[in-house]
Amino acid sequence: MKKIKVECELNIYQEEQLDTSELELIAKAKDMVRKAYAVYSGFQVGCALRLASGEIITGNNQENASYPAGICAERVALSYANANFPDIPVVSLAIVAYTNGAYTTLPVTPCGICRQVLLECEARFNQAIKIYMYGQNGIHVIDSSRKLLPFSFDKNFLPEK
Ligand code: THU
Repeated sequence: MKKIKVECELNIYQEEQLDTSELELIAKAKDMVRKAYAVYSGFQVGCALRLASGEIITGNNQENASYPAGICAERVALSYANANFPDIPVVSLAIVAYTNGAYTTLPVTPCGICRQVLLECEARFNQAIKIYMYGQNGIHVIDSSRKLLPFSFDKNFLPEK
């Protein structure tokens, strides 16, 4: 038997330990929870991402009475960024969740589908995306979505065209 071991680590920061541009990204994600359409779950998620140009793109979750048709905040922001700035890499992304009248104490982490989309975005530009997962008790920071999705599926599995 052979074994492959994957190690994964993240850093936990308090807001005062982050720099101005990191705090700006988190503040924009915090703002976006207010405009989320989360009428079914009551779990409002905001996302802000920074492009290599410095521009910030935002998104929030958009739910649907047909539940699977809903889309997460991260994919709203990433799709807008990739649709409108197809040549500019995404360098960082912040996620914040708000429920029961408060930002969550636990950091919110991207769902499996969003991790796959983040991975594609990194591969597309060959640029790691630093992810800030906000929680009132601390901000979890990981330097690449690759670390959130080990043993992942990517274009290398597909046949050559
Ligand atoms: N959601 C996000 O938008 N991003 C996440 O990282 C986790 C979950 C949304 C999907 C759904 O609208 C609601 O939160 C509850 O799952």
